[in-house]
Amino acid sequence: MAYGANDWDSRLLDVGRPGQLGDAATSTPSPFQQYLPLTSLLCKLSRFKALAADKDLANSVIAPLVRQLPFDEELSLLLAKYGWHPLEGFTTTLDLAGLKGALQKYKYIKIGQLGSGSYGVVHKAVNRETKELLAIKKVVHSVDHGLSDSTIREISTLRELQHDNIVRLKDIIATVNGNHVHLVLEFLDCDLRYYLDNCTEASNISRIKSVVYQILRGIRYAHANSIMHRDLKPQNILVSTSTGQVKITDFGLARCFLPNEERAYTEKVVTLYYRAPELLLGSQYYTSAVDLWSIGCIMAEMINFDVFFKAEQEVSEISQIMRIFSKLGTPTPEAWKELPGLTHFSQDFPRFPPRPLHELVPRLANDPQGLDLLSRLLMYDPRHRITASQALEHPWFYGVHV
Ligand SMILES: Nc1ncnc2c1ncn2[C@@H]1O[C@H](COP(=O)(O)OP(=O)(O)OP(=O)(O)O)[C@@H](O)[C@H]1O
Ligand SMILES: [Mg+2]
Repeated sequence: MAYGANDWDSRLLDVGRPGQLGDAATSTPSPFQQYLPLTSLLCKLSRFKALAADKDLANSVIAPLVRQLPFDEELSLLLAKYGWHPLEGFTTTLDLAGLKGALQKYKYIKIGQLGSGSYGVVHKAVNRETKELLAIKKVVHSVDHGLSDSTIREISTLRELQHDNIVRLKDIIATVNGNHVHLVLEFLDCDLRYYLDNCTEASNISRIKSVVYQILRGIRYAHANSIMHRDLKPQNILVSTSTGQVKITDFGLARCFLPNEERAYTEKVVTLYYRAPELLLGSQYYTSAVDLWSIGCIMAEMINFDVFFKAEQEVSEISQIMRIFSKLGTPTPEAWKELPGLTHFSQDFPRFPPRPLHELVPRLANDPQGLDLLSRLLMYDPRHRITASQALEHPWFYGVHV
């Protein structure tokens, strides 16, 4: 399939036409046994390599599937644009790619806006046939330059990663002449920012444990597949308020890395509050440990109900690094060997003493395991920072309810 990634599409290949469903068709159909005419038609259109089909081919292969669609006014108008006549079928050469793009858009009904970020708008939508709720992220695609690096990264990463704690990419809509690509994602009620600000249960330590544990599970899987996220923050973590499930989203800044290899990457990643000190100090040779720092910031924020390293005055890299130093103490070259070599580090930086972590996170004052985990996530030297696999084994999570 050209655009792949749709569970329904691939399963339908096995289901066949009505009347060919076998015994299961006579009992109550499960979602996978239901006949979905629009999905079947899209599946057929995807199998064509050519962009157009002559009238006879269109009428013998496509028209029978079109006739099974539940017509409404919108669909009639849409098909008329592609030369469809209710009695005669297709009356001209069929623009297969155009019809496919138009039907893919028709398949999803937008029902509200969920958010807008740096790369596009995210809408809540419903699959017309299955009634499944979805989130559709529209990303701009420049006609001159094609898909942006960010979109290519996001698509290729999400297609690669299939895990309970990573948002599932269900479909990709790309119209041939349009300048947008739509990513169809599974829907979750809210992001962690909203959850923290609006749901009282978010403040329970047991809930916090579960959320942090699930983020770590998703990140362990991504890291095991050589992908670092590089933009972990509450807005990029989705939460289902009914099931408590947590999923990582927004892989627009994600990139591949080779294990045990330090390569020069761009340092301008990760929203400032969650950015690891090695990035703030200009290291180009960072590793997947940047994600663990961000998880430490998220854990502390959930416990304190406030951003942990919030620069008080201007938001700049230097004020952010000072904010970190004023809480955790200015690092020393003894504790972090590479420190003096980092581009933005200066020997003239103020020497802040470290403040005790139990004062910075008072709700953990009687929880030595919690303090221990947090201190390992917020370790200055990325080589000594805890990994996702190690963190998941940490005693703070013993008996965690996911
Ligand atoms: N699958 C989803 N289910 C529910 N809400 C979602 C989903 N995907 C995204 N959202 C909402 O839309 C917002 C923006 O989505 P996303 O982070 O993917 O876009 P973005 O444009 O890359 O944002 P930015 O780069 O500024 O972080 C999210 O913070 C979240 O609130
Ligand atoms: Mg985002």
